[in-house]
Amino acid sequence: MCGIIGYIGYREAVKIILDGLECLEYRGYDSTGLAAIENGKLLYRKNVGRLSVLKDSIDKDPITANIGIGHNRWATHGKPSDINAHPHLSSDGLISVIHNGIIENYLELKAALEAKGVEFVSETDTEVVAHLIREKYKGDLLSAVSEALSEIRGAYALCVLCESEPGRIIAAKLASPLIIGFGDAENFVASDSTALAAHTRRICNLNDRVIADVTAESVHLYDLDLKPLELVEEHIPDEWTQEAVALGEYSHFMLKEIHEQPQAIRNAAMGKLGSKDGSVAFDGFSFTKEEYKKLKRIDIVACGTAYFAGVFGKYLIEKHLRIPVEACIASEFRYKNPIVGEGSLVIAISQSGETMDTLESLKLAKARGAKTLAITNVLGSQIDRAADYRIYTMAGPEIAVASTKAYSTQVEILYLLALYFGSLSESMPAESVEALTNAAMQAPDAVSYVLGQEKAIEQATEEIFKSSRMFFIGRGADYCASLEGALKLKEISYIHAEAYPSGELKHGPIALIEEGTPIVALATQPELYDKALSNIKEVKARGAKVLLIARDSAAYIAREADISIMIGEMEDDAAILPAVCVMQLLSYYTALKLGRDVDKPRNLAKSVTVE
Ligand code: AGP
Repeated sequence: MCGIIGYIGYREAVKIILDGLECLEYRGYDSTGLAAIENGKLLYRKNVGRLSVLKDSIDKDPITANIGIGHNRWATHGKPSDINAHPHLSSDGLISVIHNGIIENYLELKAALEAKGVEFVSETDTEVVAHLIREKYKGDLLSAVSEALSEIRGAYALCVLCESEPGRIIAAKLASPLIIGFGDAENFVASDSTALAAHTRRICNLNDRVIADVTAESVHLYDLDLKPLELVEEHIPDEWTQEAVALGEYSHFMLKEIHEQPQAIRNAAMGKLGSKDGSVAFDGFSFTKEEYKKLKRIDIVACGTAYFAGVFGKYLIEKHLRIPVEACIASEFRYKNPIVGEGSLVIAISQSGETMDTLESLKLAKARGAKTLAITNVLGSQIDRAADYRIYTMAGPEIAVASTKAYSTQVEILYLLALYFGSLSESMPAESVEALTNAAMQAPDAVSYVLGQEKAIEQATEEIFKSSRMFFIGRGADYCASLEGALKLKEISYIHAEAYPSGELKHGPIALIEEGTPIVALATQPELYDKALSNIKEVKARGAKVLLIARDSAAYIAREADISIMIGEMEDDAAILPAVCVMQLLSYYTALKLGRDVDKPRNLAKSVTVE
């Protein structure tokens, strides 16, 4: 959600900024822009729509500069438009600002500035920042930003340029992500490391309430009162390479990432799952048996796909460990006065590690005395840094907005976590240890098997997805999987898809079934096969067209379905990942046929860094 890139050094800033904005496109945006200082003159370009429009305008009227800032905007305050795009400028054009986040008291600040005669041109909250900094400016941009921030409430990742100080970028962060990249005689600012991987491996993840004074030769950090802070250098992880963030032979990142799943799952388990006996060790998480004994409950907090991984985590841990687990949507958890404190473990699952509601839920739980564990894909992300403990999913960069390999690696980590808790509980039955170990070990091959049926899955979309609405149904683990299947389909194809526990259909939704209504039914849990069969018959009797996703052992159910995709045989707990992989491919090919923008679906952002 919004992408920021800043450059200062000796190279062509505009080229670096445009390339960086392209790398950040995946975060989601609706308009784009940049500002740069050319021969002491602050110039800018911005437009609604794609980055290609900005590139064309730069081609027609180039800017030559060694300092600049660029921004992809995902609209919050004010519709997507040329005027609302960033950068925003002070009325005299001296100050230029790009911003990710929300300035909560912007109306109040705006009224005060208007009373002093400042004229606003956009509908954004960000514009107040430019005017406020200008009001405070008396020759030192760093002091002006610090003074302005003392009046601002809300979330921000900011980059500021000043025409009369062409040798510095001032950056600041609170709640929204921002990192500094270090080069030789050049430095960078960015929302995340995808924009920097081509230039440097040396970075610093800024903490909240930090201001950075960035020149070509130096980076100095300060708190909001301009007290100097220590700068701790970190590194972009090895798997975050330029190739990993490039499409390669694939037509879409989503398809590439679906195919990367077997290896990503292996990477997730590597170095954690010791051997076939199910021993597990994590670098960033360990509990003593005493601590485990004191554990009264586990809450999993997350959003979207990560939440659905959490729903499966609840199913898995309760099934094998018999301890109470709740999976909570983070935006609900924050505001429901949750029952957490000593004796609770709160697990935040987040691919990006930046999702605002998940981050705030984790902080709330921590403040109330709960232990907190982050399961995340991004080292150094805010959720990673805020938690007491951490486990990395090691999926590598996920660029498509629709999560695929992030989900499968999260599920893999949940197998390992259940095994780890089992080793602490000393009472987990041997069958559970075996089942979880098998599931963790079989998952990559189970997904590969399904990828081998890609053609058949693509063909299945011809038959089934002709409706503007459909259902995904299943029970137990199959319901967990169907939640993710329905989300995948709706977010990239825009077909209204709902996941329902099969047994719930009769309590209302079955009224929506008519001749030809498509239904994806799952049957991967042998003890529920007969129930699945009854539900399929029920919906068929009302005219539904059923696409069945089932284990080979459910062949007798397949006879009742219109189309079947059989996923092979595996441990019960391992079936969720191949089943979800089928639904990822169904969604992908449906969206493709409907001509959707698969990797960048409308209205969505990859990383939701505002509430
Ligand atoms: C799903 O395809 C989406 N990308 C979305 O639901 C996502 O899972 C959610 O926004 C959470 O993101 P996170 O894992 O980065 O916290």
